[in-house]
Amino acid sequence: MNDFMKMFSLTKPIIQAPMAGGIIKPRLAAAVSEYGALGSLASGYLTPQVLEDQIKEMFELTEGSFQVNLFVPADNGTPNDEDVQHWKQNLPLCDKASPFTVIKEEWDDFYAKIELILQCGVKYCSFTFDLPPEDAVKELKKAGCGLIGTASSVEEAILMEERGMDAVVLQGSEAGGHRGSFLKSKGESSIGLMALIPQTTDVINIPVIAAGGIMDYRGVKAALTLGAQGVQVGTAFLICHESYAHPAYKQKIISENETTTRLTKLFSGKEARGIVNKWMEDKKLDEVRSLPYPYQNTLTKPMRQQAALQNDPEQMSLWAGQGIRSLNKETSVKELLDKLCQENITV
Ligand SMILES: Cc1cc2nc3c(=O)[nH]c(=O)nc-3n(C[C@H](O)[C@H](O)[C@H](O)COP(=O)(O)O)c2cc1C
Repeated sequence: MNDFMKMFSLTKPIIQAPMAGGIIKPRLAAAVSEYGALGSLASGYLTPQVLEDQIKEMFELTEGSFQVNLFVPADNGTPNDEDVQHWKQNLPLCDKASPFTVIKEEWDDFYAKIELILQCGVKYCSFTFDLPPEDAVKELKKAGCGLIGTASSVEEAILMEERGMDAVVLQGSEAGGHRGSFLKSKGESSIGLMALIPQTTDVINIPVIAAGGIMDYRGVKAALTLGAQGVQVGTAFLICHESYAHPAYKQKIISENETTTRLTKLFSGKEARGIVNKWMEDKKLDEVRSLPYPYQNTLTKPMRQQAALQNDPEQMSLWAGQGIRSLNKETSVKELLDKLCQENITV
């Protein structure tokens, strides 16, 4: 048993990735916790009230370890009027979009969720999109909460350690969904896990959790060999029976392969990896005009919602990592975890 497993009271070195957007609910996360891995609730896009209900349900379903994940608000800039007008003229249903939120509202939501985590006695908490603020870290640590940050470069991982995180999720370029990157880089900011893990474990002292493209025990073994103490798996959980991913989305994951995903800002304004669909292809040349997060996200929401109602994957965001060729049928959470832990991984 390694430090990460001891710290988070786990018998398996696996985290089920928090995945915002209503896909992961307590029935999936609790099944993970029951197995001895870390189940995760994603608070992104949830109201504090819905999050509270989910936390209560988790405590009813399992005595195992689970965490709540938070988006750290970041000021990504305001869009220029010309680009806003461009999208308003070119985006289906964007007249139905909610008003843009302001950063203060995002911070209010963040602190309301921190309060809830403290009140409910949630033992573990993770962050993505930026460094968590010092005051929140202090309060959570005072309450004994174990903290995990997200980084996609060595420099970001060092900052996470300095901020007081107990572990850091290292997100490789293979990863599905939004990138947790928060520092600007001179060159390519999406780095493969193979290069990222050893360079990071050489310089930080907190446990590293590898995320991106891991679908079975071979990926787990490779990550642990490179120096990680655990892995975080997202896409593979999307096609579990217990997941609420849209059936058309699940089908896409099952039928696509490693060459059919790419990073895009078109859906949310923040770089995320997803399966290329017709809308992404049609708007390829407009990629550079994407509004900063969360503006683009707000404007594309009605289109994505309608696509879901119409079972049309061509206008949904189909977040997925590069390992999807190996995902060829729906399984249960238990079957997936058996596959990830198949070789009785020794740590
Ligand atoms: C649909 C989806 C939603 C995601 N939402 C979140 C989130 O809310 N918070 C977070 O920290 N990471 C999120 N991620 C990223 C995962 O934490 C993780 O880095 C990624 O899934 C790992 O790569 P894989 O999908 O190839 O396993 C999401 C990923 C996906 C696929």
